[in-house]
Amino acid sequence: MNKTIIAPSVLAADFSNLQAAIADIDASGAEWIHLDVMDGHFVPNLSFGPKMIRDLKPHSSLIFDVHLMINNPEEMIPLYAEAGADYITIHAEAATHLHRLLYQIRDLGKKPGISIVPSTPVSFIEHLLPMLDLVLVMTVNPGYGGQPLIPFCLDKVKSLAKMRRDNKFLISVDGGINEKTACIAREARVDVLVTGETFFRAPDKKNIVSILKGIEK
Ligand code: DX5
Ligand code: ZN
Repeated sequence: MNKTIIAPSVLAADFSNLQAAIADIDASGAEWIHLDVMDGHFVPNLSFGPKMIRDLKPHSSLIFDVHLMINNPEEMIPLYAEAGADYITIHAEAATHLHRLLYQIRDLGKKPGISIVPSTPVSFIEHLLPMLDLVLVMTVNPGYGGQPLIPFCLDKVKSLAKMRRDNKFLISVDGGINEKTACIAREARVDVLVTGETFFRAPDKKNIVSILKGIEK
């Protein structure tokens, strides 16, 4: 059985001490760092941009999983590639020429992902699946951490797992992942669990990562 990848989101960290947050993620057994970029337009909130990611990059050798919740991502993709992103995920709802953008990301040497909000069906991106390294299924309406998971979104994970066949993309879920919902998501055959509040609120980071992975202690 494949191991579940854990991707703590720095959005839930203390922004006045991000080096400590990165060190906590590094020591926890998580494999990825999830970076939520919000532009105040595509989502009603602002977070950080490429400079923050560039400054964090030398402090960790984990995979940088950049989630762009921004309109017109085409203008910004090169900046996130240069800042040290490994995966660059754009929103299906935020750009018209998704197919072109996936090639733009790959041409920059990065792994392309697409994210869908709860109201977007999997069929919307069906033809793009062979071009993807990651499908990020939003399990909340994006914009804020700490919201409860919307259960029907996990049906989309099940559909994607069935559609995957020879395609290589990973399936990730983002929003409202805790000890309980992680278990349901794993049963739906997810590969990556993004976790904000659950990770940063936990006093024992190694323990919470083991629990989210479903490893008995
Ligand atoms: C929501 C972000 C998420 C968020 C998850 O817009 O994309 O990555 O930080 O936070 P939790 O795990 O607290 O729901
Ligand atoms: Zn995210």
